[in-house]
Amino acid sequence: MAPNITLTSNQEAAQAALRAAEARFIANNPQSKAQHDLAVGTLPGGNTRTLLHTSPFPLSMKQGKDAYVWDVDGHKYLDLVGELSAGLFGHSHPLIRQTLLSTIDDVGLSLGATTPHEHTYAALLCARFGLARVRMANTGTEANLHALAGARHFTRRRKVVVFAGGYHGAVLAFGGEGGVAAAGGNTVDVGDFVVVSRYNDLALAREVIAGVGGALAAVLVEGMQGAGGCIPGGGEFLRGVQAAAREQGGLFILDEVMTSRLAPNGLGAELGLTPDLDVMAVYDPRVEGTLAHSGTFNNNTLVMRVGYAALNEVFTAEVCVAFNEKGERFRERLREVARGSRLSFTGRGSLIGLHFTEDGTEEIDCGLDVKDKRREDLRDLFWLEMLEAGFWTTRRGFIAMILGTPDEELDRFVEAVRVFLERHRAIMVCDN
Ligand SMILES: Cc1ncc(COP(=O)(O)O)c(C=O)c1O
Repeated sequence: MAPNITLTSNQEAAQAALRAAEARFIANNPQSKAQHDLAVGTLPGGNTRTLLHTSPFPLSMKQGKDAYVWDVDGHKYLDLVGELSAGLFGHSHPLIRQTLLSTIDDVGLSLGATTPHEHTYAALLCARFGLARVRMANTGTEANLHALAGARHFTRRRKVVVFAGGYHGAVLAFGGEGGVAAAGGNTVDVGDFVVVSRYNDLALAREVIAGVGGALAAVLVEGMQGAGGCIPGGGEFLRGVQAAAREQGGLFILDEVMTSRLAPNGLGAELGLTPDLDVMAVYDPRVEGTLAHSGTFNNNTLVMRVGYAALNEVFTAEVCVAFNEKGERFRERLREVARGSRLSFTGRGSLIGLHFTEDGTEEIDCGLDVKDKRREDLRDLFWLEMLEAGFWTTRRGFIAMILGTPDEELDRFVEAVRVFLERHRAIMVCDN
């Protein structure tokens, strides 16, 4: 009897705190509200990127500089969203700025032709990530769609094995039962996907892959589920999945959209996942019957030149290692202050997942492990109060660090988390 009563009063107290925080949010952000009211007239729900919607209205940002963003009401925040990992370089890196400007001034933007810049960047990507050949795409969603098309063309098979909680793009999301984040759904080739219901469960993955057998075109997997809650995949699990795919003559596609930043040669290399044989010939336009892969901006000069400069001169192997070590230390300190509370942290290096659960468990190998224990009320309360303290984080509980974020700012966040947990001791401390 006692646990139920405690739970109810805890949830009631959390609801009261949440309502108060929401009221302050509304009072503090009239310009964001006005912007949202305007935007709903032209964009469905005032939104053109679903995950950025938050109720009662999203904050509208007007500017970013270095590791900070400012909203339209004039509040300044430390940017811990980091554009969900894509904003690695912050908002005003001098070399990136200079490369953008010199591309505009000296190269031009849309040359409607192949250029030397795409090869220069491709050569660096191949050398850095141990790849034979690459193709460029504009988004992660697109890259995965083309990778799947390539795998299907190469194997002449259709089925793709994915994992619950996996996110491979707006139309390739497999949140399902296992996912932490409510991340869209799968809306393409729906009948072709077979979902393994647990991430990090090699025996189950093997069974599912063997079941698909000779129909397997590919296994598509993240080395760490990002949108699914920053849940690292075990090396043995991932290597086992790769071997199982090979056994069936299917390809192994490691989606490194988020995780390529976690180690100098990407997370795959770090975990001993060697790329499949070079299947990129399926895109060779000199060969009849190969796949078309077009996209007006695939080789746009801005990205080719900035990507090259950033990888070559800014995010060097040494910088990558030091940055991710800093992330490990940051997460460890957050863990320390949250010990015994309903807040726990997962992730790897510079990518951190925040979880609010009934028992504060840190044992999260798969979204299913926390599915029935999630405390979204506490998650929302945390998000709102971190905004008040000047920290821009995602409501879903994800931090992607930005290069060059001052140590003192990370210290300030750790302290804000400690103060939050102290202020809400009664609802944040676990009963057991
Ligand atoms: C692992 C992974 N794959 C694919 C995507 C899709 O990338 P994009 O949003 O650029 O389409 C994401 C986006 O977060 C991702 O995390």
